[in-house]
Amino acid sequence: MSKRFYITTAIDYVNGQPHLGHAYEKIVADVIARAQRSLGNEVFFLTGLDEHGQKVQQTALGEGKSPQKYCDELAADWRALADTLKLSIDDFVRTTEMRHKGVVQAILSRLEASGHFYKAEYTGWYSTKEETFLTEKDRRADGTFDPSYGEVIELAEENYYFKLRREQEWLIDYIENTPGFIQPSYRRNEVLGFLRNNTLEDLCSTRPAARLNWGIPVPFDPSYVTYVWFDALVNYISIPAAHGDPVVCSALGLATEGAPGLSLWPADVHLIGKDILKFHAVFWPIMLKAMGLPLPKTLLVHGWWQKDGEKMSKTTGNVVEPGKVIEEWGVDAFRYYVVRELDIGPDGNWTDTGFKARYKAELADGLGNLVNRSLSMLKRYRNGVVPRRSDELAPDAEKVVAETRRLLSEYQLQEALETIWRLVTRGNQYVDKTAPFKLAKDPAQTKRVDEVLYNLVEVCRILAVLLWPFVPETSSKIFNQLGVAGAPDKLAHAAWGGLPAGHTIGEIAALFPWREAKPTA
Ligand code: ME8
Ligand code: MG
Repeated sequence: MSKRFYITTAIDYVNGQPHLGHAYEKIVADVIARAQRSLGNEVFFLTGLDEHGQKVQQTALGEGKSPQKYCDELAADWRALADTLKLSIDDFVRTTEMRHKGVVQAILSRLEASGHFYKAEYTGWYSTKEETFLTEKDRRADGTFDPSYGEVIELAEENYYFKLRREQEWLIDYIENTPGFIQPSYRRNEVLGFLRNNTLEDLCSTRPAARLNWGIPVPFDPSYVTYVWFDALVNYISIPAAHGDPVVCSALGLATEGAPGLSLWPADVHLIGKDILKFHAVFWPIMLKAMGLPLPKTLLVHGWWQKDGEKMSKTTGNVVEPGKVIEEWGVDAFRYYVVRELDIGPDGNWTDTGFKARYKAELADGLGNLVNRSLSMLKRYRNGVVPRRSDELAPDAEKVVAETRRLLSEYQLQEALETIWRLVTRGNQYVDKTAPFKLAKDPAQTKRVDEVLYNLVEVCRILAVLLWPFVPETSSKIFNQLGVAGAPDKLAHAAWGGLPAGHTIGEIAALFPWREAKPTA
Protein backbone atom coordinates (compact mmCIF):
# COMPACT_ATOMS: atom_id res chain seq x y z
CA MET A 1 0.00 0.00 0.00
CA SER A 2 1.41 3.39 -0.89
CA LYS A 3 2.25 5.82 1.86
CA ARG A 4 -0.34 8.40 2.74
CA PHE A 5 0.31 12.07 3.34
CA TYR A 6 0.23 12.10 7.15
CA ILE A 7 -0.46 15.36 8.98
CA THR A 8 -0.82 15.89 12.73
CA THR A 9 -1.60 18.78 15.06
CA ALA A 10 -0.46 19.33 18.62
CA ILE A 11 -2.73 17.43 20.99
CA ASP A 12 -4.37 19.87 23.39
CA TYR A 13 -4.34 19.73 27.16
CA VAL A 14 -7.85 19.12 28.40
CA ASN A 15 -7.66 21.60 31.24
CA GLY A 16 -10.22 24.02 29.86
CA GLN A 17 -12.38 24.92 26.88
CA PRO A 18 -10.88 25.36 23.41
CA HIS A 19 -10.09 28.90 22.30
CA LEU A 20 -9.12 30.65 19.07
CA GLY A 21 -5.49 29.46 19.22
CA HIS A 22 -6.47 25.80 19.38
CA ALA A 23 -9.10 26.23 16.67
CA TYR A 24 -6.67 28.07 14.39
CA GLU A 25 -4.11 25.30 14.47
CA LYS A 26 -6.72 22.65 13.68
CA ILE A 27 -8.16 24.68 10.80
CA VAL A 28 -4.72 25.25 9.26
CA ALA A 29 -4.07 21.50 9.45
CA ASP A 30 -7.46 20.81 7.89
CA VAL A 31 -6.82 23.18 5.00
CA ILE A 32 -3.51 21.42 4.31
CA ALA A 33 -5.16 17.99 4.57
CA ARG A 34 -7.96 18.96 2.20
CA ALA A 35 -5.52 20.66 -0.18
CA GLN A 36 -3.48 17.45 -0.38
CA ARG A 37 -6.62 15.43 -1.10
CA SER A 38 -7.62 17.96 -3.72
CA LEU A 39 -4.18 17.63 -5.29
CA GLY A 40 -4.91 13.90 -5.62
CA ASN A 41 -3.05 12.44 -2.65
CA GLU A 42 -4.30 10.01 -0.03
CA VAL A 43 -4.23 11.69 3.36
CA PHE A 44 -4.37 10.79 7.03
CA PHE A 45 -5.18 13.69 9.35
CA LEU A 46 -4.77 13.17 13.10
CA THR A 47 -5.65 15.42 16.01
CA GLY A 48 -6.64 14.77 19.61
CA LEU A 49 -6.07 15.35 23.29
CA ASP A 50 -3.22 15.24 25.78
CA GLU A 51 -4.89 14.06 28.97
CA HIS A 52 -2.19 13.10 31.46
CA GLY A 53 0.10 15.15 33.66
CA GLN A 54 0.16 17.30 36.71
CA LYS A 55 -1.71 20.20 35.14
CA VAL A 56 -4.74 18.08 34.23
CA GLN A 57 -4.64 16.21 37.54
CA GLN A 58 -4.61 19.47 39.48
CA THR A 59 -7.45 21.01 37.50
CA ALA A 60 -9.56 17.85 37.88
CA LEU A 61 -8.99 17.59 41.62
CA GLY A 62 -9.72 21.30 41.94
CA GLU A 63 -13.14 20.58 40.45
CA GLY A 64 -13.61 17.65 42.79
CA LYS A 65 -13.56 15.07 39.99
CA SER A 66 -11.43 12.07 39.20
CA PRO A 67 -9.02 12.92 36.39
CA GLN A 68 -10.59 10.32 34.10
CA LYS A 69 -14.13 11.58 34.65
CA TYR A 70 -12.96 15.16 34.19
CA CYS A 71 -11.18 14.25 30.93
CA ASP A 72 -14.12 12.25 29.61
CA GLU A 73 -16.47 15.19 30.09
CA LEU A 74 -14.19 17.77 28.47
CA ALA A 75 -13.10 15.42 25.70
CA ALA A 76 -16.69 15.40 24.47
CA ASP A 77 -16.58 19.20 24.02
CA TRP A 78 -13.24 19.11 22.22
CA ARG A 79 -14.34 16.29 19.96
CA ALA A 80 -17.52 18.24 19.13
CA LEU A 81 -15.43 21.27 18.19
CA ALA A 82 -13.63 19.18 15.58
CA ASP A 83 -17.00 18.62 13.90
CA THR A 84 -18.07 22.25 14.31
CA LEU A 85 -14.85 23.33 12.58
CA LYS A 86 -15.55 20.79 9.78
CA LEU A 87 -12.23 19.06 10.33
CA SER A 88 -11.77 16.19 7.90
CA ILE A 89 -9.95 14.10 10.50
CA ASP A 90 -9.23 10.42 10.04
CA ASP A 91 -8.76 9.72 13.74
CA PHE A 92 -8.93 11.50 17.09
CA VAL A 93 -6.48 10.36 19.74
CA ARG A 94 -6.92 10.54 23.50
CA THR A 95 -3.76 9.66 25.37
CA THR A 96 -5.82 7.81 28.00
CA GLU A 97 -6.82 5.19 25.41
CA MET A 98 -5.38 1.67 25.67
CA ARG A 99 -4.16 1.74 22.07
CA HIS A 100 -1.93 4.67 22.96
CA LYS A 101 -0.82 3.61 26.45
CA GLY A 102 0.25 0.17 25.20
CA VAL A 103 2.59 1.71 22.62
CA VAL A 104 4.11 4.13 25.14
CA GLN A 105 4.84 1.21 27.45
CA ALA A 106 6.30 -0.90 24.64
CA ILE A 107 8.63 2.01 23.77
CA LEU A 108 9.71 2.51 27.38
CA SER A 109 10.51 -1.20 27.71
CA ARG A 110 12.53 -1.23 24.51
CA LEU A 111 14.48 1.91 25.37
CA GLU A 112 15.16 0.61 28.88
CA ALA A 113 16.41 -2.71 27.46
CA SER A 114 18.74 -0.92 25.05
CA GLY A 115 20.24 1.21 27.83
CA HIS A 116 18.67 4.58 27.03
CA PHE A 117 17.54 5.27 30.61
CA TYR A 118 19.35 5.64 33.91
CA LYS A 119 18.08 6.49 37.37
CA ALA A 120 19.31 9.55 39.25
CA GLU A 121 18.29 12.17 41.72
CA TYR A 122 16.74 15.29 40.21
CA THR A 123 16.85 18.61 41.94
CA GLY A 124 15.53 21.55 40.06
CA TRP A 125 12.55 23.59 39.04
CA TYR A 126 9.29 22.59 37.42
CA SER A 127 6.51 24.59 35.77
CA THR A 128 3.23 22.72 36.04
CA LYS A 129 1.50 25.18 33.75
CA GLU A 130 3.85 24.36 30.87
CA GLU A 131 4.67 20.83 32.13
CA THR A 132 8.34 21.58 31.71
CA PHE A 133 11.60 21.56 33.68
CA LEU A 134 13.45 24.80 34.17
CA THR A 135 17.06 25.44 34.98
CA GLU A 136 18.98 28.32 36.48
CA LYS A 137 19.48 29.52 32.90
CA ASP A 138 15.74 30.09 32.59
CA ARG A 139 15.80 32.73 35.32
CA ARG A 140 15.45 36.32 34.24
CA ALA A 141 17.93 39.02 35.22
CA ASP A 142 16.03 39.71 38.45
CA GLY A 143 16.14 36.02 39.44
CA THR A 144 12.49 35.24 38.80
CA PHE A 145 10.97 32.98 36.13
CA ASP A 146 8.81 34.38 33.36
CA PRO A 147 5.16 34.64 34.49
CA SER A 148 4.13 32.46 31.53
CA TYR A 149 5.48 29.49 33.52
CA GLY A 150 2.95 30.06 36.29
CA GLU A 151 3.91 28.73 39.69
CA VAL A 152 7.39 27.19 39.59
CA ILE A 153 8.04 24.49 42.17
CA GLU A 154 11.29 23.01 43.41
CA LEU A 155 11.67 19.27 42.98
CA ALA A 156 14.11 16.87 44.57
CA GLU A 157 13.37 13.29 43.69
CA GLU A 158 14.76 10.17 42.02
CA ASN A 159 13.68 9.65 38.43
CA TYR A 160 14.57 7.91 35.21
CA TYR A 161 16.48 9.96 32.68
CA PHE A 162 16.50 9.59 28.94
CA LYS A 163 19.98 10.20 27.56
CA LEU A 164 20.19 13.25 25.32
CA ARG A 165 23.68 14.52 25.92
CA ARG A 166 25.47 12.70 23.14
CA GLU A 167 22.81 13.41 20.53
CA GLN A 168 23.50 17.06 19.98
CA GLU A 169 25.99 16.84 17.11
CA TRP A 170 24.03 14.67 14.71
CA LEU A 171 20.89 16.70 15.36
CA ILE A 172 22.66 19.95 14.48
CA ASP A 173 24.02 18.32 11.32
CA TYR A 174 20.60 16.99 10.42
CA ILE A 175 18.87 20.34 10.83
CA GLU A 176 21.63 22.11 8.90
CA ASN A 177 21.44 19.63 6.03
CA THR A 178 17.65 19.41 5.88
CA PRO A 179 16.42 22.95 5.22
CA GLY A 180 12.73 22.00 4.99
CA PHE A 181 12.67 20.16 8.31
CA ILE A 182 11.72 23.20 10.40
CA GLN A 183 9.57 25.89 8.73
CA PRO A 184 9.54 28.87 8.60
CA SER A 185 13.32 29.26 8.42
CA TYR A 186 13.54 31.73 11.33
CA ARG A 187 12.24 28.98 13.61
CA ARG A 188 14.91 26.66 12.25
CA ASN A 189 17.57 29.26 13.07
CA GLU A 190 16.17 29.56 16.56
CA VAL A 191 16.59 25.81 17.15
CA LEU A 192 20.08 25.80 15.68
CA GLY A 193 21.06 28.72 17.88
CA PHE A 194 19.75 26.91 20.94
CA LEU A 195 21.58 23.68 20.08
CA ARG A 196 24.86 25.43 19.30
CA ASN A 197 24.87 27.50 22.48
CA ASN A 198 23.61 25.03 25.07
CA THR A 199 24.55 21.58 26.25
CA LEU A 200 21.52 19.33 26.27
CA GLU A 201 20.47 18.06 29.69
CA ASP A 202 19.22 14.49 29.85
CA LEU A 203 15.43 14.39 29.89
CA CYS A 204 13.72 13.49 33.16
CA SER A 205 11.13 11.07 31.78
CA THR A 206 9.24 9.82 34.82
CA ARG A 207 7.39 11.00 37.91
CA PRO A 208 7.14 9.15 41.22
CA ALA A 209 3.60 7.73 41.26
CA ALA A 210 3.41 8.60 44.96
CA ARG A 211 3.37 12.29 43.98
CA LEU A 212 1.66 12.19 40.61
CA ASN A 213 -0.32 9.16 39.54
CA TRP A 214 -2.17 10.61 36.55
CA GLY A 215 0.11 9.16 33.93
CA ILE A 216 1.07 5.96 32.15
CA PRO A 217 2.73 3.45 34.53
CA VAL A 218 6.38 2.80 33.70
CA PRO A 219 6.45 -0.92 32.80
CA PHE A 220 9.86 -1.66 34.33
CA ASP A 221 9.21 0.25 37.57
CA PRO A 222 5.60 0.54 38.71
CA SER A 223 6.45 3.16 41.32
CA TYR A 224 6.74 5.66 38.44
CA VAL A 225 4.52 7.13 35.76
CA THR A 226 5.67 8.53 32.41
CA TYR A 227 6.46 12.25 32.04
CA VAL A 228 3.55 13.77 30.13
CA TRP A 229 5.63 15.04 27.19
CA PHE A 230 7.27 11.65 26.66
CA ASP A 231 3.73 10.21 26.58
CA ALA A 232 2.20 12.95 24.40
CA LEU A 233 4.78 12.99 21.60
CA VAL A 234 4.30 9.26 21.11
CA ASN A 235 0.73 9.86 19.88
CA TYR A 236 2.20 10.63 16.47
CA ILE A 237 3.31 6.98 16.18
CA SER A 238 0.92 5.14 18.52
CA ILE A 239 -2.00 5.90 16.22
CA PRO A 240 -0.13 4.72 13.10
CA ALA A 241 0.74 1.58 15.12
CA ALA A 242 -2.96 1.13 15.94
CA HIS A 243 -3.66 1.28 12.19
CA GLY A 244 -0.95 -1.30 11.50
CA ASP A 245 1.65 1.05 10.01
CA PRO A 246 4.45 -1.29 8.86
CA VAL A 247 7.35 1.08 9.61
CA VAL A 248 6.27 1.79 13.18
CA CYS A 249 5.18 -1.76 13.96
CA SER A 250 8.38 -3.33 12.76
CA ALA A 251 10.66 -0.80 14.54
CA LEU A 252 8.80 -1.31 17.82
CA GLY A 253 8.39 -5.05 17.42
CA LEU A 254 4.59 -4.78 17.51
CA ALA A 255 2.57 -7.56 15.99
CA THR A 256 0.42 -6.69 12.99
CA GLU A 257 -2.56 -8.87 12.36
CA GLY A 258 -4.50 -9.73 9.24
CA ALA A 259 -4.73 -7.25 6.40
CA PRO A 260 -1.79 -4.94 5.69
CA GLY A 261 -2.10 -1.72 7.68
CA LEU A 262 -2.05 1.92 6.65
CA SER A 263 1.34 3.24 5.65
CA LEU A 264 1.71 6.57 7.45
CA TRP A 265 5.09 7.08 9.09
CA PRO A 266 7.13 9.25 8.70
CA ALA A 267 4.70 12.11 9.16
CA ASP A 268 4.74 14.69 6.38
CA VAL A 269 3.76 17.57 8.66
CA HIS A 270 3.66 18.08 12.42
CA LEU A 271 1.81 21.38 12.78
CA ILE A 272 2.61 23.01 16.14
CA GLY A 273 2.72 26.37 17.90
CA LYS A 274 5.97 28.22 18.50
CA ASP A 275 5.91 27.53 22.25
CA ILE A 276 6.38 23.77 21.86
CA LEU A 277 9.11 23.84 19.25
CA LYS A 278 11.89 22.50 21.50
CA PHE A 279 9.88 19.39 22.37
CA HIS A 280 9.35 18.67 18.68
CA ALA A 281 12.67 19.77 17.22
CA VAL A 282 14.99 18.43 19.94
CA PHE A 283 13.42 15.77 22.17
CA TRP A 284 11.22 14.09 19.58
CA PRO A 285 13.92 13.52 16.91
CA ILE A 286 16.22 12.05 19.55
CA MET A 287 13.47 9.76 20.83
CA LEU A 288 12.72 8.63 17.28
CA LYS A 289 16.34 7.90 16.51
CA ALA A 290 16.62 5.83 19.69
CA MET A 291 13.63 3.81 18.49
CA GLY A 292 15.14 3.33 15.05
CA LEU A 293 12.44 5.38 13.35
CA PRO A 294 12.86 7.99 10.59
CA LEU A 295 12.21 11.63 11.48
CA PRO A 296 9.09 13.52 10.37
CA LYS A 297 9.55 15.47 7.14
CA THR A 298 8.41 18.89 8.33
CA LEU A 299 7.75 20.71 11.57
CA LEU A 300 5.47 23.53 10.53
CA VAL A 301 5.47 26.16 13.26
CA HIS A 302 2.71 28.72 13.64
CA GLY A 303 2.58 31.86 15.76
CA TRP A 304 0.24 32.91 18.52
CA TRP A 305 -3.01 34.85 18.43
CA GLN A 306 -3.77 37.72 20.72
CA LYS A 307 -7.11 39.46 21.09
CA ASP A 308 -7.19 43.25 20.86
CA GLY A 309 -3.42 43.34 21.27
CA GLU A 310 -3.38 41.39 24.51
CA LYS A 311 -2.80 37.83 25.59
CA MET A 312 -5.99 35.82 25.64
CA SER A 313 -6.87 34.99 29.19
CA LYS A 314 -9.88 33.40 30.79
CA THR A 315 -9.48 35.37 34.01
CA THR A 316 -9.89 38.71 32.23
CA GLY A 317 -12.45 37.33 29.79
CA ASN A 318 -10.26 38.37 26.89
CA VAL A 319 -10.95 35.32 24.70
CA VAL A 320 -12.37 34.49 21.31
CA GLU A 321 -14.71 31.53 21.59
CA PRO A 322 -14.75 29.75 18.24
CA GLY A 323 -18.20 28.24 18.86
CA LYS A 324 -19.78 31.66 19.37
CA VAL A 325 -18.22 33.24 16.29
CA ILE A 326 -19.28 30.28 14.19
CA GLU A 327 -22.83 30.36 15.49
CA GLU A 328 -23.13 34.00 14.51
CA TRP A 329 -21.17 34.14 11.25
CA GLY A 330 -20.88 30.57 9.99
CA VAL A 331 -17.96 28.18 10.05
CA ASP A 332 -16.57 29.20 6.67
CA ALA A 333 -16.32 32.87 7.65
CA PHE A 334 -14.28 31.82 10.68
CA ARG A 335 -12.09 29.41 8.70
CA TYR A 336 -11.54 32.02 6.00
CA TYR A 337 -10.69 34.81 8.38
CA VAL A 338 -8.06 33.02 10.46
CA VAL A 339 -6.19 31.65 7.45
CA ARG A 340 -6.43 34.86 5.44
CA GLU A 341 -5.47 37.11 8.35
CA LEU A 342 -2.47 35.19 9.67
CA ASP A 343 0.31 33.56 7.71
CA ILE A 344 1.82 30.39 9.21
CA GLY A 345 4.67 31.78 11.33
CA PRO A 346 4.15 35.26 12.75
CA ASP A 347 1.86 36.20 15.62
CA GLY A 348 -1.61 37.55 14.92
CA ASN A 349 -4.18 39.76 16.52
CA TRP A 350 -7.93 39.15 16.51
CA THR A 351 -10.21 42.17 16.51
CA ASP A 352 -13.97 41.95 15.96
CA THR A 353 -13.71 44.98 13.68
CA GLY A 354 -11.07 43.29 11.55
CA PHE A 355 -13.16 40.15 11.31
CA LYS A 356 -16.26 42.04 10.20
CA ALA A 357 -14.27 44.14 7.73
CA ARG A 358 -12.97 41.05 5.92
CA TYR A 359 -16.38 39.41 6.10
CA LYS A 360 -17.98 42.39 4.39
CA ALA A 361 -15.32 43.32 1.85
CA GLU A 362 -13.96 39.91 0.88
CA LEU A 363 -16.74 37.41 1.54
CA ALA A 364 -19.99 39.36 1.17
CA ASP A 365 -19.03 42.06 -1.38
CA GLY A 366 -16.26 40.00 -3.00
CA LEU A 367 -16.97 36.32 -3.47
CA GLY A 368 -20.64 36.35 -2.46
CA ASN A 369 -21.50 39.23 -4.76
CA LEU A 370 -19.67 37.74 -7.73
CA VAL A 371 -21.43 34.39 -7.45
CA ASN A 372 -24.79 35.97 -6.73
CA ARG A 373 -24.84 38.41 -9.61
CA SER A 374 -23.31 35.99 -12.10
CA LEU A 375 -25.90 33.33 -11.41
CA SER A 376 -28.77 35.82 -11.12
CA MET A 377 -27.96 37.30 -14.54
CA LEU A 378 -27.78 33.86 -16.09
CA LYS A 379 -31.24 33.14 -14.64
CA ARG A 380 -32.65 36.44 -15.74
CA TYR A 381 -31.20 36.72 -19.24
CA ARG A 382 -30.78 33.07 -20.25
CA ASN A 383 -33.32 31.32 -18.07
CA GLY A 384 -30.51 29.65 -16.13
CA VAL A 385 -29.13 27.84 -19.19
CA VAL A 386 -25.35 27.96 -19.79
CA PRO A 387 -24.48 29.44 -23.23
CA ARG A 388 -21.76 28.13 -25.49
CA ARG A 389 -18.22 28.15 -24.25
CA SER A 390 -16.15 31.31 -24.37
CA ASP A 391 -12.53 31.58 -23.22
CA GLU A 392 -12.07 35.27 -22.48
CA LEU A 393 -11.16 34.78 -18.80
CA ALA A 394 -9.48 31.41 -19.33
CA PRO A 395 -5.91 32.80 -19.19
CA ASP A 396 -6.62 34.62 -15.91
CA ALA A 397 -8.19 31.51 -14.41
CA GLU A 398 -5.44 29.20 -15.59
CA LYS A 399 -2.77 31.40 -14.08
CA VAL A 400 -4.52 31.52 -10.75
CA VAL A 401 -5.10 27.75 -10.75
CA ALA A 402 -1.44 26.99 -11.48
CA GLU A 403 -0.23 29.36 -8.80
CA THR A 404 -2.72 28.11 -6.22
CA ARG A 405 -1.62 24.54 -6.90
CA ARG A 406 2.00 25.44 -6.21
CA LEU A 407 1.20 27.48 -3.10
CA LEU A 408 -0.99 24.77 -1.62
CA SER A 409 1.69 22.15 -2.06
CA GLU A 410 4.14 24.50 -0.27
CA TYR A 411 1.69 25.12 2.63
CA GLN A 412 1.50 28.82 1.67
CA LEU A 413 -2.13 29.14 2.61
CA GLN A 414 -2.43 32.88 3.11
CA GLU A 415 -0.80 33.56 -0.24
CA ALA A 416 -3.02 30.98 -1.90
CA LEU A 417 -6.09 32.89 -0.68
CA GLU A 418 -4.63 36.17 -1.92
CA THR A 419 -4.06 34.54 -5.29
CA ILE A 420 -7.57 33.10 -5.48
CA TRP A 421 -8.98 36.52 -4.63
CA ARG A 422 -7.27 37.96 -7.70
CA LEU A 423 -9.74 35.87 -9.68
CA VAL A 424 -12.65 37.03 -7.49
CA THR A 425 -11.65 40.64 -8.12
CA ARG A 426 -11.10 40.01 -11.82
CA GLY A 427 -14.60 38.52 -12.05
CA ASN A 428 -16.23 41.47 -10.34
CA GLN A 429 -14.32 43.97 -12.49
CA TYR A 430 -15.36 42.03 -15.59
CA VAL A 431 -19.02 42.44 -14.61
CA ASP A 432 -18.54 46.15 -14.05
CA LYS A 433 -16.64 46.64 -17.29
CA THR A 434 -18.77 44.52 -19.61
CA ALA A 435 -22.02 45.63 -17.92
CA PRO A 436 -24.15 42.68 -19.10
CA PHE A 437 -27.22 44.29 -17.53
CA LYS A 438 -26.93 47.03 -20.14
CA LEU A 439 -25.96 44.73 -23.00
CA ALA A 440 -28.96 42.52 -22.30
CA LYS A 441 -31.29 45.32 -23.34
CA ASP A 442 -29.75 45.46 -26.81
CA PRO A 443 -30.79 42.61 -29.14
CA ALA A 444 -27.66 43.20 -31.29
CA GLN A 445 -25.51 42.17 -28.30
CA THR A 446 -26.92 38.66 -27.81
CA LYS A 447 -23.63 36.97 -28.64
CA ARG A 448 -21.65 39.24 -26.34
CA VAL A 449 -24.06 38.60 -23.46
CA ASP A 450 -23.61 34.85 -24.03
CA GLU A 451 -19.83 35.24 -23.86
CA VAL A 452 -19.85 37.32 -20.72
CA LEU A 453 -22.26 35.03 -18.91
CA TYR A 454 -20.29 31.91 -19.81
CA ASN A 455 -17.07 33.44 -18.50
CA LEU A 456 -18.72 34.48 -15.27
CA VAL A 457 -20.36 31.20 -14.35
CA GLU A 458 -17.26 29.24 -15.32
CA VAL A 459 -15.13 31.47 -13.07
CA CYS A 460 -17.60 30.76 -10.25
CA ARG A 461 -17.26 27.03 -10.83
CA ILE A 462 -13.46 27.20 -10.79
CA LEU A 463 -13.49 29.34 -7.64
CA ALA A 464 -15.58 26.69 -5.89
CA VAL A 465 -12.90 24.08 -6.67
CA LEU A 466 -9.99 26.33 -5.63
CA LEU A 467 -11.69 27.30 -2.39
CA TRP A 468 -12.74 23.84 -1.23
CA PRO A 469 -9.77 23.28 1.13
CA PHE A 470 -10.53 26.59 2.86
CA VAL A 471 -14.31 26.93 2.87
CA PRO A 472 -15.73 23.51 2.01
CA GLU A 473 -19.38 24.34 2.79
CA THR A 474 -19.33 27.45 0.63
CA SER A 475 -17.72 25.52 -2.22
CA SER A 476 -20.44 22.90 -2.05
CA LYS A 477 -23.10 25.62 -2.00
CA ILE A 478 -21.62 27.16 -5.15
CA PHE A 479 -21.66 23.76 -6.86
CA ASN A 480 -25.27 23.26 -5.78
CA GLN A 481 -26.32 26.67 -7.05
CA LEU A 482 -24.56 25.93 -10.31
CA GLY A 483 -26.44 22.63 -10.47
CA VAL A 484 -23.13 20.78 -10.78
CA ALA A 485 -23.17 17.24 -9.41
CA GLY A 486 -20.41 15.83 -7.22
CA ALA A 487 -18.09 17.56 -4.78
CA PRO A 488 -15.70 20.43 -5.66
CA ASP A 489 -12.89 18.49 -4.02
CA LYS A 490 -10.42 17.83 -6.85
CA LEU A 491 -8.14 20.50 -8.28
CA ALA A 492 -8.07 18.52 -11.49
CA HIS A 493 -11.60 19.84 -12.04
CA ALA A 494 -10.41 23.44 -12.06
CA ALA A 495 -9.57 23.19 -15.77
CA TRP A 496 -11.34 25.82 -17.89
CA GLY A 497 -14.38 24.74 -19.86
CA GLY A 498 -15.94 22.34 -17.39
CA LEU A 499 -19.45 23.79 -17.69
CA PRO A 500 -21.12 22.40 -20.82
CA ALA A 501 -23.41 24.55 -22.99
CA GLY A 502 -27.06 23.79 -22.35
CA HIS A 503 -26.53 22.94 -18.66
CA THR A 504 -29.20 24.39 -16.36
CA ILE A 505 -28.14 25.88 -13.02
CA GLY A 506 -29.90 25.33 -9.68
CA GLU A 507 -31.44 27.53 -6.98
CA ILE A 508 -29.64 30.76 -6.07
CA ALA A 509 -29.14 32.02 -2.50
CA ALA A 510 -26.82 34.56 -0.86
CA LEU A 511 -23.57 32.94 0.36
CA PHE A 512 -22.57 35.56 2.92
CA PRO A 513 -25.53 37.70 3.85
CA TRP A 514 -24.25 40.95 5.31
CA ARG A 515 -25.55 41.74 8.73
CA GLU A 516 -24.74 44.73 10.87
CA ALA A 517 -25.88 43.18 14.10
CA LYS A 518 -26.97 39.66 14.90
CA PRO A 519 -28.22 37.55 12.01
CA THR A 520 -31.91 36.94 11.74
CA ALA A 521 -31.76 34.08 9.27
O1 ME8 B 1 1.20 22.37 24.48
N1 ME8 B 1 -2.46 31.12 19.52
O2 ME8 B 1 -1.02 21.75 24.64
P1 ME8 B 1 -1.73 23.19 24.69
C1 ME8 B 1 -2.09 30.12 18.69
N2 ME8 B 1 -0.39 19.27 25.10
N3 ME8 B 1 -1.87 28.85 19.09
C2 ME8 B 1 -2.03 28.58 20.40
C3 ME8 B 1 -2.43 29.57 21.33
C4 ME8 B 1 -2.64 30.91 20.84
N4 ME8 B 1 -3.01 31.91 21.61
N5 ME8 B 1 -2.50 28.98 22.55
C5 ME8 B 1 -2.17 27.66 22.37
C6 ME8 B 1 0.33 21.53 24.59
N6 ME8 B 1 -1.87 27.43 21.09
C7 ME8 B 1 0.69 20.05 24.58
C8 ME8 B 1 1.06 19.64 23.16
S1 ME8 B 1 1.84 17.83 21.33
C9 ME8 B 1 2.49 16.27 21.37
C10 ME8 B 1 1.48 18.20 23.02
C11 ME8 B 1 -1.41 26.17 20.49
O3 ME8 B 1 -3.17 22.87 24.88
C12 ME8 B 1 -0.08 25.72 21.07
O4 ME8 B 1 0.98 26.43 20.46
O5 ME8 B 1 -1.06 24.07 25.66
C13 ME8 B 1 -0.08 24.25 20.74
O6 ME8 B 1 0.42 24.00 19.45
C14 ME8 B 1 -1.57 23.89 20.82
O7 ME8 B 1 -2.30 25.12 20.82
C15 ME8 B 1 -1.91 23.11 22.09
O8 ME8 B 1 -1.49 23.80 23.23
MG1 MG C 1 0.31 25.54 26.32
